[in-house]
Formats: sequence, structure tokens, C-alpha cells
Amino acid sequence: MQDTQNIPLIEIRNLKKYYPVKGGILPHTVGWVRAVDDVSFSMMRGETLGLVGESGCGKSTIGRLLVGLEEPTEGRIFYQGRDLSTLRKNPKEMRRIRTRLQMIFQDPYSSLNPRKQIYEILAQPMLYHEISRRDTIHRDLRRLLDMVGLPETVLGKYPHEFSGGQRQRIGIARALSLHPEFIVCDEPVSALDVSIQAQILNLLKELQAELKLTLLFIGHGLGAVSYVSQRIAVMYLGGIVEYGDAQELFAHPAHPYTKALLDAVPIPDPAEKNRPRQLLQGEIGSSAAPPDGCRFHPRCPWARPQCKNTRPPLQKVCSDPAKQSAFSHDTACPYGQEGSLSEWENIS
Ligand SMILES: Nc1ncnc2c1ncn2[C@@H]1O[C@H](COP(=O)(O)OP(=O)(O)OP(=O)(O)O)[C@@H](O)[C@H]1O
Ligand SMILES: [Mg+2]
Repeated sequence: MQDTQNIPLIEIRNLKKYYPVKGGILPHTVGWVRAVDDVSFSMMRGETLGLVGESGCGKSTIGRLLVGLEEPTEGRIFYQGRDLSTLRKNPKEMRRIRTRLQMIFQDPYSSLNPRKQIYEILAQPMLYHEISRRDTIHRDLRRLLDMVGLPETVLGKYPHEFSGGQRQRIGIARALSLHPEFIVCDEPVSALDVSIQAQILNLLKELQAELKLTLLFIGHGLGAVSYVSQRIAVMYLGGIVEYGDAQELFAHPAHPYTKALLDAVPIPDPAEKNRPRQLLQGEIGSSAAPPDGCRFHPRCPWARPQCKNTRPPLQKVCSDPAKQSAFSHDTACPYGQEGSLSEWENIS
């Protein structure tokens, strides 16, 4: 029998998702949006991986591909070592696996059907997938609501009767209701008040530890993401530019884009008001017409002539000069090692 402890719970290999761009008088495909372009990573059971990057870089697309809301253009997704594309011929098994992969959405309001009471929203999928039965559903719902810190009285209400934080708790309860192993949390706190954000982040952290969940935590910036994640992948225009241990990446970013994202994290300390910050030059570019070669090269202070044509392969790099002998866990562009971050600071 296969040892499921040593194989990643989720693995993606060379994943691509291209969307057609329509144009012309008789609409036809005139180009492609390369939303996700050759992304690979893996996640072990019980791990939280943070996925960060600017708006439109392809984070949600990866999330939707992972939970089966969309099909990849190319590449493979493995669940416990099983290639999901080969399971299409077995709809029953596919349905079972789909219940193990869930998603919490950015906007808790539009992701809940406004015409249904919370009872229906939560109970219907549980009964359909035989997670619960008619005679046990009330007990199971009570337990579920208790886990997310909501009283049983919410069951008779509609989504519009709740605050943003409560709605997101319902979104979390819905994701948990089918006993998933893996949850994509797609910017679950960015639509919420700052004070409520901390409560929801703490709730997710507690649930992750209690239920041994594996989470892909998507965010724009590194602040909330680094709070919940053990490892972080940084995305830029459909590709990953740096991937590594969260603390290591925070302390010693190895890629200029990561460094700029870190500098964008606000620090509530007046003494830090005048700290030097790196702002990226130029525009983010478009996934419909991305630059050739390395997509970051027009904004990169370390770009070499060959970066215009070829993407440098991510390599293990030592981002902390004090640790010359002990390589950090980061993988990033190798060219940055020849220019230091202080060189980058001089340029910008
Ligand atoms: N169904 C679709 N049809 C065409 N283009 C799409 C579709 N879904 C996403 N895109 C495009 O793919 C790119 C990546 O979108 P995606 O939603 O994954 O970005 P994101 O990183 O999640 O952004 P945000 O942080 O704003 O949520 C964008 O350019 C977007 O316009
Ligand atoms: Mg998104």
C-alpha cells in the first residue's frame, strides 16, 4: 500500500490556464490571457501555503483549478498522488474527492445564495453527499456552527441579515461542512473590517490546527498571509518568482518583487515612518500581452540581456549574506545573487 504520509496531499505540475480573448465583427479568438503559466508546487498534509501577488496575477485562477471549478489548459493536479485528470472516467470517485477540496471566497455575500436560509445553504450539501442524515442533521449543524463561533439561531436567517464577519463565518462553515482535507482560502479577510480580520484569521488558524487541514491562503500582500502560512509562494503575472519558508522569506527576500511587496506592508510605528522603501518602477503589465522571457524583466534592476528572451529557472538561493554556508529554503531568480539588495536599493 502507498504511504500517504510521505506524498504531498496536493501537487501541481506545470499548470497552465489560458482564457481566450474574443474580438472582431464576427467574434473569434484573437489572443489568450495567460492567467496561470507554468506553475508547479506541492503541499504536505497539515501545511498552510500562502500565495501572494498583485491583482490579476492569477491567484484565484490557481484556487479555482485546484478545487475543480475550472479545468486546466495544460499541466497536472495530483491529490494524494492521484492525477485528477485520469479520474474523470470515474464520476463517483471524482465527486467524493471534490468534497475533500473546498474553497472560501473573498466576498462572503455574493458567495452565499441570498434566497436561501442558512439552514438550506449548509444542510443541503451535507444531505446530498451523505455527510449527515435527516435524523442527525440538526445535531451536526449545531456542532458545525459551534466550530465557527455562531449560535444555532442563525439557521433560520438569510445571508443579508448578517455582518461581514458573521457571513464569512458562515462561508467557513459551508467549506467545513463536507469534511474537507484541503481548503483554498481566497482572500477571506480582505472584504472585512480590520478588527474583524484578526478574528477570522485566528479562527482559520485554530480550525487548521484542530482539524489538521491543509490550506492554500491567497492574499494581495504579505501581512495577513505570513501570519497564517508556513511557506509562501510569490506570484507575478501568472508565474511564481519566489517560493520559500515564510519567516525566511520575510526576513531575507531573495527577489526584488518580494522585497517591494514587503515594503508595502504598513507598520504601525511612527519611528518607522521614514524607513527606506522600495517602490517598483513601471506598470505590472498584462497577462494578455505579457513581456517575453522573464515577465518581470522590464521592472527588474537585475535584468540581464538574456532575460528578454528566456525565463531564468528558479533556483535555491542564499538570500542572507551572513548565511553563506547555510542555504536558505528560498527558491528564486539566481541572478539576484550577483547583485545584492543594497544594489537594488541604490537603483531605485
Ligand atoms: N473567466 C475568465 N475569462 C477571461 N479572463 C479571465 C477569467 N478569469 C480570470 N481571467 C483573467 O485572468 C487573470 C488572472 O485572474 P485572477 O482572478 O486569477 O487574478 P487574481 O490574482 O486572483 O486577482 P485579484 O487579486 O484581483 O483577485 C486576469 O487577467 C483576469 O482578467
Ligand atoms: Mg482573486
